[in-house]
Amino acid sequence: MSSQRSSFTGKIGFVLAAAGSAVGLGNIWRFPYLAAKYGGGIFLLTYLVLAITFGFTLMIAEIAIGRKTKLSAIGAFKALDKRFTFVGVLGAIIPIIILPYYAVIGGWVMKYFAGFASGATEQMADGNYFSNFIGSVGEPIFWFALFIAITAIVVFFGVEKGVEKVSKIMMPVLIAMILFIAIYVICTMDGALDGVIYYLKPDFSNFSVMTVVAAMGQLFYSMSLAMGIMITYGSYMKKDISIEKSTRQIEWFDTGVAFLAGLMIIPAVFAFSGGDAAALGQGPGLMFVTLPQVFNTMPAGSVIGAVFFIMVFFAALSSSISLMETIVSILMDKTKLNRRASCLIVLGGALLLGLPSSLGYSAWSSVKIIGMQFLDFFDFASNSVLMPIVALITCIFVGYILKPKAVIEEVEVNGKFKSKGLFTVMIRYVAPVFLLVILTSSILSAFGIIKI
Ligand code: PFF
Repeated sequence: MSSQRSSFTGKIGFVLAAAGSAVGLGNIWRFPYLAAKYGGGIFLLTYLVLAITFGFTLMIAEIAIGRKTKLSAIGAFKALDKRFTFVGVLGAIIPIIILPYYAVIGGWVMKYFAGFASGATEQMADGNYFSNFIGSVGEPIFWFALFIAITAIVVFFGVEKGVEKVSKIMMPVLIAMILFIAIYVICTMDGALDGVIYYLKPDFSNFSVMTVVAAMGQLFYSMSLAMGIMITYGSYMKKDISIEKSTRQIEWFDTGVAFLAGLMIIPAVFAFSGGDAAALGQGPGLMFVTLPQVFNTMPAGSVIGAVFFIMVFFAALSSSISLMETIVSILMDKTKLNRRASCLIVLGGALLLGLPSSLGYSAWSSVKIIGMQFLDFFDFASNSVLMPIVALITCIFVGYILKPKAVIEEVEVNGKFKSKGLFTVMIRYVAPVFLLVILTSSILSAFGIIKI
């Protein structure tokens, strides 16, 4: 079976494909709002430290497991040790939770593209526009359904490669635009510099356990870790490509895009609101409220807004395709259903599961699960509970059952593993203890048992 597995071509092919899955709404929408909410510079610093230690360790381990076994997550764990098959299964549940609400946000992006394209820039810049939009029932559901339907059509016809090509071409343009908007805001708007300082200068009095919990969840989400995705990507990776170098490249790229997105949004929040706590802590709506205000001050703001949101749409689409493809292929493997039936089932399931996330801002806004709206709850369940659990068991598995040596050998198939000392210490000692502490505190705090 393994001999039929196709491989990425060229040295850069693997990095680009993995980066296409990694860079998405997590970087552009989620990272800035978390950084704004959880302490600015201190969040950024925490994130960076976690990325070069935890992110690095986990990504190396996942890619190496994939390449060693040439199987995707469930099969890979099963092949290495039958008792650990459940880790693969647990990881496979995560995309099922993420995809529906990812599509809800993807729908918001489409709506904003349509709004700018139709020249409604001024209305969209109104502070209440966003809350009115998500507070209505029909429209957000329409855009959500459209987004998930487009994702399903791509996966159904198997034209992912085409979309990924488009989104790869768009990526540099998107990055250039983010940079341009950041420079525009910082250079032309009063108060923006305070935002730059808030974002870049760590203020330790803003630090709390929540900073670490949020940064850790974001790391998994943004780098598509702890859900088996990187194992699958690794299974397609050729032996002559360096796992260590590729991991570093994906990490820097993913972190770079998130960093720039924060630099674009946080100074703008300061320019328009003076950086008061309510504006900084507003959460998922941050990008949708702030950027239209920026575009409204620009000459040709409608065009720039429309181009920006269509780019974000493509970045989001390539990520949602990789989420849906993962679920569809698991379903096909496990049930022997064909691609068509699997796509329809996943589409139907995602529509159903996404509805509460969308309605949570309107008709069902009074319904709360452990004090959270549906979207926040799904986000919490995947990023702050399931992913740390999968990451924790993966570390224990690699550290004590498989042994770090097996991963090191796989990495050293082509050259020296420079950071193998860091890798070994992290995977055996630091990561498991740290993950256990983080996991326990986020669960206890969600149930109101402790305050972090
Ligand atoms: N990493 C993506 C983002 O930052 O938007 C989200 C994601 C995509 C997670 C695909 C998992 C995945 F399989």
